[in-house]
Amino acid sequence: MMMAEGNFSILFILLLSVSLFVFEGSCMKAGERSFEIDYSTDQFRKDGQPFHYISGSIHYFRVHPTDWRDRLRKMRMAGFNAVQTYVEWASHEPEPGMYDFTGMLDLETFIKTAQEEDLSVILRLGPFIDAERDMGGLPYWLLHMNPEMRLRTSDPTYLQYVDRWFTSVLLPKVKPLLYENGGPIIMLQVENEYGSYPSCDFSYTGHMRDLVRNGVGLNAVLFTTDGDGVGFLKCGKIPEVYSTVDFGSGTDVNKAFDTMRLFEPHGPLVNSEYYPGWLDHWSYPHSTVDAQAVAKTLDEMLAMNASVNMYMFHGGTSFGLTAGSNKYSNFQVCPTSYDYDAPLSEAGDPTEKYWILRNITKKYLPLPSGDVPPPSTKESYGKVQMASLGTVNQLSTKLTSVWSKWPLTFEALRVANGLVVYQTSIPFRTADPAPLAINDVHDRGYVYVDGVYVGTVDRQQELYTLPISARINASLAIIVESQGRICFGADINDFKGLTTNVTVSGHQLEGWTIIPLPLTNNSRLAASLTHLPLFSSQDAFSEGRMSFFQGTFNVSAEGSQPHDTFLRLDGWSKGLAWVNGFLLGRYWPEVGPQVTLYVPHGVLSQGTNTLLLLEYEAAPCLTPDMCYVTFTDTHVINGPTPL
Ligand SMILES: *[C@@H]1O[C@H](CO)[C@@H](O)[C@H](O)[C@H]1NC(C)=O
Ligand SMILES: *[C@@H]1O[C@H](CO)[C@@H](O)[C@H](O)[C@H]1NC(C)=O
Ligand SMILES: *[C@@H]1O[C@H](CO)[C@@H](O)[C@H](O)[C@H]1NC(C)=O
Ligand SMILES: *[C@@H]1O[C@H](CO)[C@@H](O)[C@H](O)[C@H]1NC(C)=O
Ligand SMILES: *[C@@H]1O[C@H](CO)[C@@H](O)[C@H](O)[C@H]1NC(C)=O
Ligand SMILES: *[C@@H]1O[C@H](CO)[C@@H](O)[C@H](O)[C@H]1NC(C)=O
Repeated sequence: MMMAEGNFSILFILLLSVSLFVFEGSCMKAGERSFEIDYSTDQFRKDGQPFHYISGSIHYFRVHPTDWRDRLRKMRMAGFNAVQTYVEWASHEPEPGMYDFTGMLDLETFIKTAQEEDLSVILRLGPFIDAERDMGGLPYWLLHMNPEMRLRTSDPTYLQYVDRWFTSVLLPKVKPLLYENGGPIIMLQVENEYGSYPSCDFSYTGHMRDLVRNGVGLNAVLFTTDGDGVGFLKCGKIPEVYSTVDFGSGTDVNKAFDTMRLFEPHGPLVNSEYYPGWLDHWSYPHSTVDAQAVAKTLDEMLAMNASVNMYMFHGGTSFGLTAGSNKYSNFQVCPTSYDYDAPLSEAGDPTEKYWILRNITKKYLPLPSGDVPPPSTKESYGKVQMASLGTVNQLSTKLTSVWSKWPLTFEALRVANGLVVYQTSIPFRTADPAPLAINDVHDRGYVYVDGVYVGTVDRQQELYTLPISARINASLAIIVESQGRICFGADINDFKGLTTNVTVSGHQLEGWTIIPLPLTNNSRLAASLTHLPLFSSQDAFSEGRMSFFQGTFNVSAEGSQPHDTFLRLDGWSKGLAWVNGFLLGRYWPEVGPQVTLYVPHGVLSQGTNTLLLLEYEAAPCLTPDMCYVTFTDTHVINGPTPL
């Protein structure tokens, strides 16, 4: 009964939109540039003609913009006719009311480039996106505005910011790019796998639908995506929005689409996330999915006339500190690479899977004429000598601090990500050794007593207590690293830093000097590094001394353009790497599986280039000749792991 009503209202809206179309059609003839769901023949119609799509996900915010066209063209040349991307709110609004659509965040240019490459666009608006991104793409500052905020619900303190972002900023950019308005966007996703979130707040999802409708008009095809189980669709389904499902290879396709049919008895079959690979976590083996199995299930779906989006077609890289983490039975952290074992590798090269899948797609859609662009040239720029700039403890004395009786979270401090130094003293006599407890540190704490590194506490390993030997009035410093906020499930309100009081032998420590490091703001980072005198490598070497290192390298000035390369950090432990001020991301080759960091040619320049490292644990710099990194032409993302 409810279903029937739902379909009736969709029909009603379609009728209404057709009549509006006729009324408003001063510059367009009916039937021209239309995209719609045909419920009577179970298919999409584009300009009135039957249409189905083979789409692939490429996230503009995970690919350097100089490579957008290359990646989109390679996907088109595999027979795909659409690209799907999320929009990431957190990146576009890094601080409240401050918007960024430049460079890698130039959404409109990405969409127009897709159109030039003959691809339709399926846009997943969010506000929440998951995508293995920090906080699933929600801005961290929501938790500053209201620490009690009920994210992804009709909590008015949340909706106030969602509404402003959608109504004043995002949807006005999207509307002119809709298919009916001359652009390539054929469909818009509302929220994201909402049935996997426990709130099941229908007034929220209804609000999101109306917000989008009001912003883009009645013609746009709206859809939702959920796992292929009734339990997911029950909470994910939004009346008057088309429900689709997602599942990977090896799934019983008929059964999965039967589940979709319980919620959409008519209309095209759609798998909005078909997984050709899978995501990785630091310390766990690299995920792969067999190409033949992916091809087989794709063939089955396409033979049913289903429309399919492959998630990911090209995963790219979670540059900067944008990678998220997951909370399963334990906390697990996503690495910088988002290769995903996808048909195009992290560096954008066609893999064997690419060719196998192209063999399937060409049975259903014509391959464009011409050749698949070749893999990009990779270059070994060789060894780069590194020199220490000084330690984080030295730097922290030059930065602005906050005093608080009790520890404050990153969110309370208004720190998006990175590292925060928490300092206090232990003003009482302790047993030797005594247990220092830093319960539920989010996510990793490097502990120093009187300036000497004494150990690490860690959320993933659930190791929160260290034995310490401290004289009365000893100084204690805990440098806490955020490894990326949880991106999926109930725990996305993932506050970072010290989230509980710190105790020694059960006594609470009070009176904290708290110093955020400006790692995500280039101009502030560069300004603060000028406070550091250059130290010799030997001065800075000591296990656990968190230090900055810098080096320069040359890119041939003889006419040839810079090429893609990969940064190898043999002997280094864990930290961050910047090339020419561009934060490539986190490195942690000791636990793998990611060993090298991808350096897109677009961040290099002819002549001298600068590499900056922030090494958290131990640099191989006992002597200057050991203190180097290497740029190689070979990517390694499946290195050995401990777990
Ligand atoms: C797929 O669509 C074609 C053309 O519209 C039609 O002839 C065919 O019967 C459809 N196949 C299935 C399995 O629905
Ligand atoms: C593509 O299909 C052809 C013929 O069906 C086959 O000979 C070839 O090996 C296939 N290529 C791949 C990469 O699967
Ligand atoms: C510890 O520090 C407090 C406050 O600075 C001071 O009053 C006290 O004398 C110190 N105790 C010792 C044993 O140094
Ligand atoms: C630390 O303890 C104090 C006093 O019991 C309490 O007010 C404060 O909220 C606690 N802070 C944290 C982060 O748990
Ligand atoms: C980065 O820092 C500069 C200088 O303090 C400031 O003007 C700018 O707003 C900051 N950017 C962001 C995104 O916070
Ligand atoms: C870079 O090239 C310049 C000029 O050719 C040279 O003086 C310099 O030593 C080179 N630097 C490195 C790190 O190779």
